[in-house]
Amino acid sequence: MSVLDVLEWPEKVLDTRADEVTVFDAELESFTKDMADTMHDAKGIGLAANQVGVLKRVLVINIPFQEGDEESEERGLEPEVKMPWHDKLFVMVNPVLKNKKGKTRYQEGCLSFPEVYDFVERSENVVVEYQDVKGKKHELEADGLMAICIQHEIDHLDGIVFFKRMSRLKANTIRRKMMKRASIKTMKAEVKA
Ligand code: CO
Repeated sequence: MSVLDVLEWPEKVLDTRADEVTVFDAELESFTKDMADTMHDAKGIGLAANQVGVLKRVLVINIPFQEGDEESEERGLEPEVKMPWHDKLFVMVNPVLKNKKGKTRYQEGCLSFPEVYDFVERSENVVVEYQDVKGKKHELEADGLMAICIQHEIDHLDGIVFFKRMSRLKANTIRRKMMKRASIKTMKAEVKA
């Protein structure tokens, strides 16, 4: 098990589009395992390769089912019903949104933005086409938190962090908060050195 470092914005790699994966080898498979370990260790429900500093179109998602999840309701979702995608690890290579329908709003968080949660409007229902670690093609239709998560993670692969989907006012507040956090980190590192 290898837990990788999760990078925080404004690391440039988070604003950069990741490249298509063309080689499906043991190295790719071991990288996706490290990504899953990293996501579980950080208690996240999704992770894109950009967030660990790798510009490859790879994402992992694993949404645990929580009965009567009040937190999700407060954040904008209907009471949860157990769906086939709950409690299942998805590894998506070269994911592409094929279809999107409807609108939904959910208070999203992101491992690259600790302690930041805010509402983002996204499509309610999506169809995603992706390859697994062996290169085999799959298609998945999703709604609820899974649809939101797929869109959030594909955005990462396109170099789009979630505040870019918010109002300019909210985006600026988050940008300032993260800049301040980064400068405090740099100061601490300088004191140590
Ligand atoms: Co994120």
